[in-house]
Amino acid sequence: MNIYKKILEEKGKISALAPMEDVTDTVFRQVLCDIGKPDLFFTEFMSTDGFMSKGRDKVIHRLEFTDIERPVTFQLWGNNPDNYAQTVKDIVKYNPDGIDINIGCSVRSVLSHGHCSALIKEPELVEEIIKAVRSESQDVPVSVKTRLGYDEIITDEWFSFLLKRNLDLITVHGRISKDGYSTPANWEEIEKVVRLRNEISPNTVILGNGDVNSLNQADEYISKYDVDGVMVGRGILQNPWLFSRRENIGKDERIDVLKKHLKLFDKVSEDRKPFYSQRKYMKMYISNFDGASELRSELMKCNTVEEVLSIV
Ligand SMILES: Cc1cc2nc3c(=O)[nH]c(=O)nc-3n(C[C@H](O)[C@H](O)[C@H](O)COP(=O)(O)O)c2cc1C
Repeated sequence: MNIYKKILEEKGKISALAPMEDVTDTVFRQVLCDIGKPDLFFTEFMSTDGFMSKGRDKVIHRLEFTDIERPVTFQLWGNNPDNYAQTVKDIVKYNPDGIDINIGCSVRSVLSHGHCSALIKEPELVEEIIKAVRSESQDVPVSVKTRLGYDEIITDEWFSFLLKRNLDLITVHGRISKDGYSTPANWEEIEKVVRLRNEISPNTVILGNGDVNSLNQADEYISKYDVDGVMVGRGILQNPWLFSRRENIGKDERIDVLKKHLKLFDKVSEDRKPFYSQRKYMKMYISNFDGASELRSELMKCNTVEEVLSIV
């Protein structure tokens, strides 16, 4: 039984943290294991072309994880089936709980090279990519994260196609690629995917994604739209404690978690990521208490972990 089915059997539903480039790295995921862990983590997306190039060392850190973060699914992107096959052959040795293909990202720089959600327009290539991943994935489950269409909603056509590819899981971000984030996620269309799944591929697990900001909202959407689970992205930026269901986290706890995060960043990240990449986490933790805004402004002026620690 694959990991997604196992979670469903144990818990009846799945809460997943979305893959988010430069946000959901191993340091942040380890902190979340302490303060509110989802049922399932995804890594940041890693380029299969980058992995197969001389620059492998610059991209491989995106797949770094520790055992406490399990279950963790590796997310890959690219549009060259051979590079997918070679990459998967190499990375299965790290024993991921799943391998996910990114057909959802809508950042202009990746679209212009025919990657990520631009692949929605290339179903034959998608079929080759899925076959390439499967050919080397051994018994690791294979999934796709995608949107409702590229420049128009094509739920029936696109998901009927994907559901015939025998995928273990599909995450449906309820927007089209051209929308970016400008319109609300369309959960009625996500529900249509569930109905298609019931007809075409009952074993494929479906996660809905888009604009969910709490576990209570996730529960409501799971019962209303019949998805197996919900993936939360930007909601975690507003509330890193989201997966704990706790509310009103006090100032001392927030500061302690920031300290823990930065110490771990210092230990794990070496020189791979610049210090300023940590400012977003300072904003996340240092909020919702009297004086948070003043403290945040002070921390934003810091240039090293030591400086932050001496202030807090
Ligand atoms: C900063 C940021 C980075 C993201 N990086 C990725 C990524 O690496 N892979 C991916 O599939 N989606 C990525 N996404 C999209 C999210 O996974 C998610 O689909 C999207 O934010 C919608 O969910 P939400 O409304 O809960 O935020 C990213 C989103 C944000 C905001």
